Amino acid sequence: MPKNGKPLKTNPRGLYDRIADVQNLAMKVNGYRASVAKYLRSLDLKLDADSLVLDAGSGTGIVTNAFHDCGLESRRVVSLDLSVNSLKVARDSLKKRNVFSKQTDFVQGNVLTMPFADDTFDLLLMCGVLEYTPLDDGLREAARVLKKGAPLVFLPVKPSVVGSVLELLYNFKIHPLASVREASTRYFNIVGNHEFPITEPISWSKTIFLLEKK
Ligand SMILES: C[S@@+](CC[C@H](N)C(=O)[O-])C[C@H]1O[C@@H](n2cnc3c(N)ncnc32)[C@H](O)[C@@H]1O
Repeated sequence: MPKNGKPLKTNPRGLYDRIADVQNLAMKVNGYRASVAKYLRSLDLKLDADSLVLDAGSGTGIVTNAFHDCGLESRRVVSLDLSVNSLKVARDSLKKRNVFSKQTDFVQGNVLTMPFADDTFDLLLMCGVLEYTPLDDGLREAARVLKKGAPLVFLPVKPSVVGSVLELLYNFKIHPLASVREASTRYFNIVGNHEFPITEPISWSKTIFLLEKK
């Protein structure tokens, strides 16, 4: 149960454990990975061979893979999700790449209580997960594990026709963008809010905020 006392509409772990393979296929064909990789490449992320990167709510590893596609330096990348089956799919997809053994860890955990010390990560990626949690709790925990000044690349589902269909299908709750901005500014500076080109399917349901921990 989230801290505000309201029960989640569904158990996301059970849902994503059941649909991990189908979800991965859907995400593969819709080009999300290329869109996220292109966006990450456009940023001036100051990462080096010591950097720690976290994909929180990683699901089947689409965003983790997008990060690896960019060829950016890092010491370790951690993929964290509630769903064990989604993490297995992520692990299998990364096993096919050289990055698996030397660079990627898979952690089953909750984005609201992550098993990491304060100020650990140099980059945090969060795509389509805080729709399952109270927004403020999720962003506060994200800020806790990030180093001061480090970026959070945050992709919430945006209010839209496609977003509403996904909301019904996947049983989550879209946060109004005004609430996203308001909650973000408690813990982060908003550096940018990028809209993907309409020709990229990710644009139909997601927007992307570049946040920097205060
Ligand atoms: C829509 S999928 C997004 C997955 C991935 N980020 C992507 O963009 O492909 C939502 C994911 O959030 C995970 N999830 C939901 N609530 C969570 C929580 N409280 N902690 C960790 N993961 C959670 C689900 O298991 C699922 O894998």
